[in-house]
Amino acid sequence: MTGMLDGKSALITGAGSGIGRAAALAFVREGAWVAAADRNLDAAKATVAAIEAMGGEAVAIACDVTDDAQVAAMVAAAVNAFGGLDCAFNNAGVAPYQLNSAGVLTADLEEASWLGLIDINLHGVWRCLRHEVVQMRKQGGGAVVNTASILGLIGSGGAAAYVASKHAVVGLTKAAAIDHAPENIRVNAVCPGYIETPMTEETVRRRGEALMARVPMARMGRPEEIAEAVVWMCSDRAGFVTGSCWQVDGGYTAR
Ligand SMILES: NC(=O)c1ccc[n+]([C@@H]2O[C@H](COP(=O)([O-])OP(=O)(O)OC[C@H]3O[C@@H](n4cnc5c(N)ncnc54)[C@H](O)[C@@H]3O)[C@@H](O)[C@H]2O)c1
Repeated sequence: MTGMLDGKSALITGAGSGIGRAAALAFVREGAWVAAADRNLDAAKATVAAIEAMGGEAVAIACDVTDDAQVAAMVAAAVNAFGGLDCAFNNAGVAPYQLNSAGVLTADLEEASWLGLIDINLHGVWRCLRHEVVQMRKQGGGAVVNTASILGLIGSGGAAAYVASKHAVVGLTKAAAIDHAPENIRVNAVCPGYIETPMTEETVRRRGEALMARVPMARMGRPEEIAEAVVWMCSDRAGFVTGSCWQVDGGYTAR
């Protein structure tokens, strides 16, 4: 049996929790070596321990994606650990409530909340992407997946900075895909719907029933269901797929 990512090295941000951790485990299952990066090093180490328990190989890296020097060092550490970088999953992100802005109307947002969220969810993806692409171009190619959201495709109330950041990740993904296609580097995005992770616990408590009423499949997604799409987009099976933004949302955006 061969895995979809046999012999490939992969870097995942936000790998200490939720979608990032599920992706790290799925990448290893498919034969990849994983550099698990997170601003919470203990969480990244717990992901590495889970990988080692399944017989895989991984390293934990501390990195806050708001700091370009840390991002550069993260990419260098991943390359150093595995001799190159074939795949990258730029997934670290925060929800509005983590910057005190859940439910705040656009005109009432504090500038610090706006800037803080955009710095992580948009600028963080761009910082990672550019350092990864510089490495991949040296190697003759690679595959990048960015985490956007269904809120990168449609609007939602009380979440302007988040919605703007995720729409921008979709735009960045398309622009980077066009720029780097001649260098054999594919850039795609995944757009998750509502997924069971620590990020959504609070939202589900407050208005889970109302949200589920809008999902055709009438349930939350599991982080593993996002991971499967990311694995595929990073694999050679997706060789002609670039600049695409793939909803994995139980039908939410089909309405
Ligand atoms: N859960 C959902 O329903 C959902 C839906 C759509 C999109 N997303 C997106 O998926 C991604 C992962 O979310 P999740 O649900 O797994 O959340 P999560 O909170 O479980 O995990 C996010 C991880 O990112 C890390 N992180 C946060 N800020 C960071 C920073 N500045 N630098 C480095 N690491 C940082 C956290 O420490 C955490 O380990 C996010 O980009 C989120 O916006 C989630």
